[in-house]
Amino acid sequence: MKIYILAANLIKFCCLLFLYFFVFSSCKDPIIENTPIPPNNEDSIPVKVSKMDWWNDARYGMFIHYGIYSVLGGEYIGKNIDGISIHFQSAGNNNSNIDTLKLGMGAGAEWILYEASIPREAYRKYASCFTAKKYDPQAIVNLAQKAGMKYIIITTKHHDGFCLWNSSATEWNISQTPAGTLWNYDLIEPLARATRDAGLKFGIYFSHTRDWMHSGGLGPIPELNMKKYSYAENQLYMETYTYPMIIDLLQRYHPDIFWWDSENPYEEFAIRCNALITNSSTSIIQNNRLSTLSAYQGDFATPEQAMDENTEYENMELCMTVNSSWGYNKFDSGWKRPEYILWCLLRANKLGGNLLLNIGPDGEGLIPNECQHILETVGQWIRTNSDGVYETRKSPFSFNLPYGPATWKEKNNSQQLYYHIFYWDGSGEVWLPGIMNSADEVEISFLANPSLPFKVESVEGIGLRLTGLPSNKPSELCTSMKIKFKKEPKLIEGAREINKAIRLDALGAQIGNVRMDDFDSKPCINWYNGRQIKYKILITHSGLYKISALLAGEYPGTITFDFGNGTKVNGNNQATRGYANFEWQHMGNIYLEPGEYQLMISNKQTNSWLKIREFKLELQ
Ligand code: GLC
Repeated sequence: MKIYILAANLIKFCCLLFLYFFVFSSCKDPIIENTPIPPNNEDSIPVKVSKMDWWNDARYGMFIHYGIYSVLGGEYIGKNIDGISIHFQSAGNNNSNIDTLKLGMGAGAEWILYEASIPREAYRKYASCFTAKKYDPQAIVNLAQKAGMKYIIITTKHHDGFCLWNSSATEWNISQTPAGTLWNYDLIEPLARATRDAGLKFGIYFSHTRDWMHSGGLGPIPELNMKKYSYAENQLYMETYTYPMIIDLLQRYHPDIFWWDSENPYEEFAIRCNALITNSSTSIIQNNRLSTLSAYQGDFATPEQAMDENTEYENMELCMTVNSSWGYNKFDSGWKRPEYILWCLLRANKLGGNLLLNIGPDGEGLIPNECQHILETVGQWIRTNSDGVYETRKSPFSFNLPYGPATWKEKNNSQQLYYHIFYWDGSGEVWLPGIMNSADEVEISFLANPSLPFKVESVEGIGLRLTGLPSNKPSELCTSMKIKFKKEPKLIEGAREINKAIRLDALGAQIGNVRMDDFDSKPCINWYNGRQIKYKILITHSGLYKISALLAGEYPGTITFDFGNGTKVNGNNQATRGYANFEWQHMGNIYLEPGEYQLMISNKQTNSWLKIREFKLELQ
């Protein structure tokens, strides 16, 4: 009898084992991205497949900030935690004339609970207004596709701790809202499905450690007089909320990207979180915001709003808002120009990175019209110029060409540089300084106007020169050309001397965290004190060079030109009757020997900032 039971149990066990392997292995994500593709024959080179391949090809994605804060839209009228009546408005561009106004210092409207010191009980009540009745996942996906974006990442839980799905770890979730009833207690699933159905990748944003509503979440909490929780309290928070939520999110949505926010300083938590992700799938990509510790920096860096071109990134995703808030802010009409967004996208691509552009739907789920329009305008441009965006890789040309960045692609044994011109100077000629191949070693075409006629010649010591071009810009937003190399590219960075003058325009600079403006006329840098601008320059003639700057500003100051090895010029700039009045001003003279220089330019204004369009070095 015992033997019979034993045998029966053994059979049961084998069946279960078989079932487990059959059912669960077939449930796995069908994309097995880590399996190397075997070579077809002995001569062929094995193709390496990395989990980053699709991400590197995608180059452009959509970020969505949606939650209870979307209902408030940047405004809170009520009492703060001290019981004092306040009218709070998140900073925006048109909120100047209101009496009871208390402006947040540029904080995104998703921070309103914190910024306006709203009592948690009062904030909780907004759940009853979160309807999501116009939330339309298919429309969001359609917009992403029209915009040319290849993946979508949504906030499943932001710092206010609210979960957009029916988490069993907390009651502070979608089930407490009218949106829950309307959307089967889950706003994430229909979006994930629509995204995947459209062939796009799907990612999850998750604030794993900063939480103002659940006890133990890291980050100062206004209601607790800015108290921060201890290690033990945070440990309990991670056990109670974070780990179960991560498991839940992974099982429900099988995300392609896990986008952590607010780094945790403790190694134990980084190890646990990381293991949950990597054990669930070998193909999930993680960002670098899991931990402050260098060992847990994930698969890509996440500069915010602006990036420093002087940083060496392996993989980088610039995340950026279309106005200045992540969450919906009804007062913020400071929409960025499509040209600016495009310029950020192409600069990110040039560095081998992606742009993740944010939309903030309102409480009902509607995306502001201005935002949709901007996304579509950029998308329209991408459609005709897609070759220079998708599948591009980090460019060997680390400095920009005059008037814009250049992206790079190496595919099917051919090498291509895509030069994106954001200022068309009307001269009928375009220089490609530093491309030293002869004219017959390259094939040049304009992406949006393949039949545009022009002549190409190679000018010794400078590079290629295109003439016979129209004086009006051929494309809206930006004119892009493809330079296909028939032979090995011969690139010399820093070659810029044309007719005994070296012109260094704003778009051609290597810049850190600075803003580019005036895309409607001639782009300039909004230059604050202490921010550096760099150019690599090649001096071919020794002699005295006169340095001047084309600038506009309301205050005087100094501009320092540092050529390295102690060779410096300090120039004085004068006020120019406002930011609309650009003037050439003389900065000083310098004697330079032939050679390669890393020119670093910095400024110190007595007040405010300076607009800078161009520098010029002229051989005397
Ligand atoms: C910051 C902000 C947050 C926003 C995020 C996007 O960490 O705290 O509000 O979600 O950046 O990158």
